[in-house]
Formats: sequence, structure tokens, C-alpha cells
Amino acid sequence: MAELTQPMNVHWVDGSREEYEQLCSQLVESRTFVKLNEKLWPGCYYARSDASDVARVEDRTFISSFSKDGAGPTNNWEEPFSMRRKLKGLFDGCMRGRTMYVLPFCMGPIDSPMSQIGVQLTDSAYVVVSMRIMTRIGLPVFREIDKDVKRVVPCMHSVGVPLAPGQKDVSWPCNKEKYIVHFPESREIWSFGSGYGGNALLGKKCFALRIASTIARDEGWMAEHMLILGVESPQGEKTYVAAAFPSSCGKTNFAMLVPPKGFEGWKVWTVGDDIAWIRPDEKGQLRAINPEAGFFGVAPGTSWETNPNAMATLSRNTIFTNVALTPDGGVWWEGMTKEPPAECLDWQGNRWTPEIAKQTGAKAAHPNARFTAPASQCPTIDPLWEDPHGVPISAFIFGGRRATVMPLVYQAFNWSAGVYAGATMGSEMTAAAAGTIGKVRRDPMAMLPFCGYHMGDYFRHWLKMQRLLSMTPRIFHVNWFRKDQNGSFLWPGYRENMRVLKWIVDRVHGRVVGRETPIGWVPRYEDIEWRALDFPREKFEELQTVDRDAWKLEVIGHEELFIKLHDHLPPEMVYERELLICRL
Ligand code: GTP
Ligand code: SPV
Ligand code: MN
Repeated sequence: MAELTQPMNVHWVDGSREEYEQLCSQLVESRTFVKLNEKLWPGCYYARSDASDVARVEDRTFISSFSKDGAGPTNNWEEPFSMRRKLKGLFDGCMRGRTMYVLPFCMGPIDSPMSQIGVQLTDSAYVVVSMRIMTRIGLPVFREIDKDVKRVVPCMHSVGVPLAPGQKDVSWPCNKEKYIVHFPESREIWSFGSGYGGNALLGKKCFALRIASTIARDEGWMAEHMLILGVESPQGEKTYVAAAFPSSCGKTNFAMLVPPKGFEGWKVWTVGDDIAWIRPDEKGQLRAINPEAGFFGVAPGTSWETNPNAMATLSRNTIFTNVALTPDGGVWWEGMTKEPPAECLDWQGNRWTPEIAKQTGAKAAHPNARFTAPASQCPTIDPLWEDPHGVPISAFIFGGRRATVMPLVYQAFNWSAGVYAGATMGSEMTAAAAGTIGKVRRDPMAMLPFCGYHMGDYFRHWLKMQRLLSMTPRIFHVNWFRKDQNGSFLWPGYRENMRVLKWIVDRVHGRVVGRETPIGWVPRYEDIEWRALDFPREKFEELQTVDRDAWKLEVIGHEELFIKLHDHLPPEMVYERELLICRL
């Protein structure tokens, strides 16, 4: 690969603290990083990306399986032979004048039988230091590779900006032409042109979801876009759930939930905030690990009020990308404090004041600005978060961002009805990916951009998993985002989501009844713990409304995706749809 890409030199990443610090100072020198005020933000750095490189690029993301049918209609596909030729052209000499980093990484605890190994070759030091936070890297991983028991996934990455001799580098090199390519059969990833998170930190979405989902299908486990959390009751009972919400729909917030007033003695523990690898154990119990070691979280909206655990986690040793820089060498973003700073530099480096914002609508931070922070710094990190065998999962929760139709919570009647609820999930699009913000799109299991194979076969895999289980997790659907006629959220959300989570846990343990509706079981007003919250019954009923006419249109919306997938759609999905129509 060095012969192909022609780097100036090759650096083998050992993963040490000294190496990290040396790379960070190098990034400060090249103006990619600004070191933040050590007193306010110890060990923290600030990066501003190119204005065109701020999110995942789904239309430039490809699954190059042998057959088009293998990738399915929801993925971009190109025939692997021509794709390889194209990539060879793009990577030819693309690292000239730069260093190639040889970055070994492990997704999951190094001693876990569920973990997987990759080696990323990259010409971006920003990627190396970010990966040191997000995964386990360096010498311990080289030692794993030397044992030769696990297959290594090769990952090629270049920002795609070779430097001529003497040419000055820009602070955020990236190429207008972007390719994020996966070869599922040979288990390879090739990423060109972007330095942004999901496009460039190849252990995350590319490996831990797109490639891992195909490995999981073959081996009988699951790679899901899910947070993992544990609920501990005052009696010490611990219940783990995994929840799939699309990008920028509340996973990090839910994973770090602080129980509200009225829930004294309850505790929520964080295992992961974005990805879960889930496997049945020898007793037929699903167990989940978090393959990551850090959080790559959405900054805007994160505050001591909404998510104190995230704020504590990102208070040190964190990399901030595309937030605003304050004059005292700190960072700020919309929603971080009630009072905005009197002035700052926005995510593009322009002077920003609240007055300018009022006049022009300019945001100080990009809506998809992110923090990259070590999971170990999270005050609620679960004592078992690095358990090599994972934690037992009792429930799956699906949820999208829906202003209408979807109630706050319902429980699916059984596994296949639950798979249907996940498969037909809709959500309004967010800033986490390029696209029309606010448009409802079908995002099955929050995996639309992340499933490495045919979505119809993915539904079949979900259905088949149940046969490997002696205890089937219960499946729920939530919606924190329903709005009233004036466009205000009906539900306060954030920590108050604990009230919904408690009902879910009570249902799992068979402690509370549900009311049957055409779509599933729902709580009655009196089934929810309302202590210390004044939430009127009428408002709850509005929030929980299952409007039959709206649901008939919703089911027609499901068809849009199903027609696309028809020749791979499991019959269960068709029957579940018919049953739902009959009940409506
Ligand atoms: P990715 O990292 O892109 O996968 O996103 P995520 O699913 O982890 O979403 P995150 O928790 O970062 O939340 C994204 C946005 O949703 C933030 O602006 C939050 O403030 C907002 N949000 C999260 N939970 C709630 C909630 O319960 N109610 C409301 N109204 N907004 C929420
Ligand atoms: C998401 O978009 O779902 C993220 C951020 O978690 S990224 O890593 O860029 O995919
Ligand atoms: Mn995500």
C-alpha cells in the first residue's frame, strides 16, 4: 500500500500517551488543532473542519459486493472490479508528502471473544488521535495480530490531498471527490477524500456496523446501531436494554440518562452510546458488548441541564470538532449554556455574537459539531462495560423522531411484531448526514445507512435470531419528539424518559399490565410513575393517541420500503402488515 500511495514516511502507531501528545502538538503546529485553555479544558483540543466536510456522505458510500442483489436497493453499489480500479487510481500517489500511519485497532475489549481487529492505514494524524479515544489501538493490538487467531480487516484511508515538495498544508485537508467503500466478501474498507468521523474513523460505522453486520449475519450474531444501558432499581435489580435510534435522535442522551426527581435510589449505567455487538450465549441469552472505547457525540443541545454525564465526560482529554471557540480559549455550542458568550469565533472561524445570530441566523457551532471523549471518563460508565462476555439484554427499544402519529411508547405484541416495528421505523432526517433535514424517511432499525447487505435479508436475520434464544428480549417503540398543534414537544424528554424506561423494565419483569391497542401494548396513565412531575392526564392521552386514520396512512408509508425490498422480504413482514391493517 505504501508503494501505491507513495507516503513520505511510515509511522507504526504504538498507541502510547507520549505518541498521542506528540501527534497533538504536531496538529497544533499544522493549525488543525487549537490547544484549549488548560485551566478550563485540561487536555482538550479544538478542530475546525473544511466547510464541505462536516457529516457522513451517504450518497458517496458504497457496498461493493459481488452481486448488486447482495447490497440490496438501499445501498449504493458498484461492481467490485471496476470499483477497485477506480480506487487504485484515486489512491495512486495520494499520500505524497505525508506520513502514512499504520494504526492497529481492536473493536471491543482486547480480551473479548466477541471483539474484532482491524488495521487502518491513514495519512491523517487527526484520525490517529481520534481513534486512540474511540477504540483500543497500538501495541496490545499488534500482539493480538501476532497470535494469528483473529482475521484482520484491512482499512485504507486517505484525505486525498498529496503535497508537492515545499507545498504548505491546509488545516483540514480533504478532497471534493469522496468514496467510502466496503467490500463485504473480502472484508475490506477503502475511504477517500474525507477526514470527518463516520467517513474516516473506519472502526466505527464502516467496520463495527457495515462490515460487522455481514460477519454477524454469517456467524449468527448482531451488529446494531444501538446504545446499551443498565437500569438499577433501589432494590439492586439490574436490567439491561439496547436501543436503536437513528443518527442524532437521542442515543447518547438516553445512554447517560440521570433519573429525575421522584426516582431517588434509581440508577442508569452506561455501557455504550452508539453501537452494540450482540450474541447469544450458551444458555440462549443475548449478551451485548460496546465495540467502542469513546463517545463521538453531538455537541449542540448538550448541557449540564440536559446531559450532565456527557458534560462531565467531555470536560477533559476531549477533541472538539466544529463547535465555537471562545476568547478565553474555551468552547461553546448552541444549548450549552442559557446565556451565549458575548462573542466567539464560529465553526468556520468568523466572528460570532448573539446580535449577529439574531440578524443572520448564523449558528456558532455546526448542528453536527461533535465531541470525541473517552468512555472511561463517564461518571455513569457501567462497572461491566468492558466485560469480555458482555451484558445480558432484556429489551430492545426502537425509536425515531416523529412530530406526529407515533405515541410516546408502545410494546410490540411479540418478536415478529417487534421486528416489524423496527423494520418500518420512520424518522425525520437530521444534520448527521447530508440530506433534507426534517423529511420523514424509513430507517429500519436505525440501520438504513449502516447495513452492509440486503435490507430484506437483514430482517430475515432478525427473525431467525429468535430461534437461537431461550429468553426473547421484549421489543418496544418510543418517540420523544411528538409535537402539539403549535409545534411544541409534548414530552419534556431527557431525564423524564426515565418514566418510560421504568415502564419498560416493569413490563420486562411482568410487573405491570398494558392496554391493548391496534399497534401494541401501551401504558395507562396510572401505570407511569409521575412522582415529582406535574403531567396532566389529558396531555398524556394526547401523547399516546393511536389515531386509526393516521396509522392507515402510516402503513401505506411502510409499503414504500417493502416494495423496494419485495423479493427478499420475509413473509413474516407481509403477515404482520396484514394483521396490523386488520386491527386498524
Ligand atoms: P448519533 O451520535 O448521531 O448517532 O446521535 P445520537 O442518537 O447519540 O443523538 P444524541 O443523544 O446526541 O441527541 C441528538 C439531539 O437530540 C441533541 O440535540 C439532543 O439534545 C436531542 N435529544 C436527545 N434526547 C432528547 C429528548 O428526549 N427530547 C428531545 N426533545 N430532544 C432530545
Ligand atoms: C452517526 O451519524 O450515527 C454518528 C456519527 O454516530 S458518525 O460517526 O459520523 O457516523
Ligand atoms: Mn450514530
